[in-house]
Amino acid sequence: MSTVTDNLQSDIDEIMPGVIADRRYLHTIPEIGMELHDTAAYVLERLKAIGVEDIKTGIAVTGMTALVKGTKPGPDRVVMLRADMDALPILEETPVEFISTRPGAMHACGHDAHTAMLLGIARLLMDRRDQFSGTVKLLFQPCEEIPPGGAKFMIEEGVLEHPHVDAVFGMHVSSDTPVGEIRFRPGASSANSDRVLITVQGKGGHGAMPHESIDPVITAAHIAIALQTIVARNLDPVDSAVITVGKLAAGEANNVIPDTAEMKLTVRTFLPETRAMVKERIHTLATSVAAAFGATANVEYSEGYPSVINDVACTALVEAVAQEVCGPEHAVQEKAQMGGEDFSYFLQQRPGAFFYVGTRREENGIAWGHHHPRFDVNEDGLAYGIETMSRVAMRYLNDGV
Ligand code: NI
Repeated sequence: MSTVTDNLQSDIDEIMPGVIADRRYLHTIPEIGMELHDTAAYVLERLKAIGVEDIKTGIAVTGMTALVKGTKPGPDRVVMLRADMDALPILEETPVEFISTRPGAMHACGHDAHTAMLLGIARLLMDRRDQFSGTVKLLFQPCEEIPPGGAKFMIEEGVLEHPHVDAVFGMHVSSDTPVGEIRFRPGASSANSDRVLITVQGKGGHGAMPHESIDPVITAAHIAIALQTIVARNLDPVDSAVITVGKLAAGEANNVIPDTAEMKLTVRTFLPETRAMVKERIHTLATSVAAAFGATANVEYSEGYPSVINDVACTALVEAVAQEVCGPEHAVQEKAQMGGEDFSYFLQQRPGAFFYVGTRREENGIAWGHHHPRFDVNEDGLAYGIETMSRVAMRYLNDGV
């Protein structure tokens, strides 16, 4: 049974204007990558005003942590809540008053909302310190969008210690989920997201005298087809993966056989063993098919973010809380997604869960997706994220999982 029984609703109603103001201000000053100096300065100012303890800045360039310590006698757990803060290199086209003031940078994934929600949660928890024991560690992260990502560097700089973190929770707004709905998934919920560059080296020559050349175009075409057999023939049919050849480029002229061809792939898998198998098969097929045509292939495989693997008990806690906050029909277990997310690095180190908060906004029947120049967040959804995350944190600290 929960030890947090009171209604948070009136407090949330009180803080929402501030949360929305924070989100809109952050939306006007998008910054990309690790260098989020203006964003971090604003978050720092807000954290000081809220009165949280032990603020640490400059972690992985512009990341931050801060603590909210409960005063209720009880277990001394530490739960970490994470918000990412970075924007994307997109020219904003969303028709809002708080449009980006920095052309070519835009909060097109909703990380402005994540940062504002975590500030709201900090405020809410500060007012309720007598209702939980242990410590909430707030973590504000730069550079989720660009691998290798900020999470990895923040972990290397020690954010999971001092105090030692027992569990981690994160959330993401979702433009294809209605307001008032929370989505979650135990186990693997996002994909290993990898990139591959294959360079096929042939021998260039005159287009009318192919017998004197080794054609890298034909070789690359056969490699592209052979790669499709990995999912079709090597993968367990109940598992899944994607291998997309997104770029296949060679040559300039009608009558010239080029020297080289270049292929760029994106590879998505869920399980670590599937990732290893796919990586090995891409290498074998590319080099062997090239050899069969008398060419060579050089394969550069770059591992991106690993799959988000949610702890089963922590996801059950999110589900139970989401059912209370949103109603059972709006707490939805979802399919795994093929997108990448660097919260996975925290989940490799500690149990926890990452969930999605509905912020679908329709404009003339269209809900623009994440990373679109017209992406927008329906701010009515943010209260559900704040309440769910605050309750998850307090319940974890008081009752565990
Ligand atoms: Ni995102």
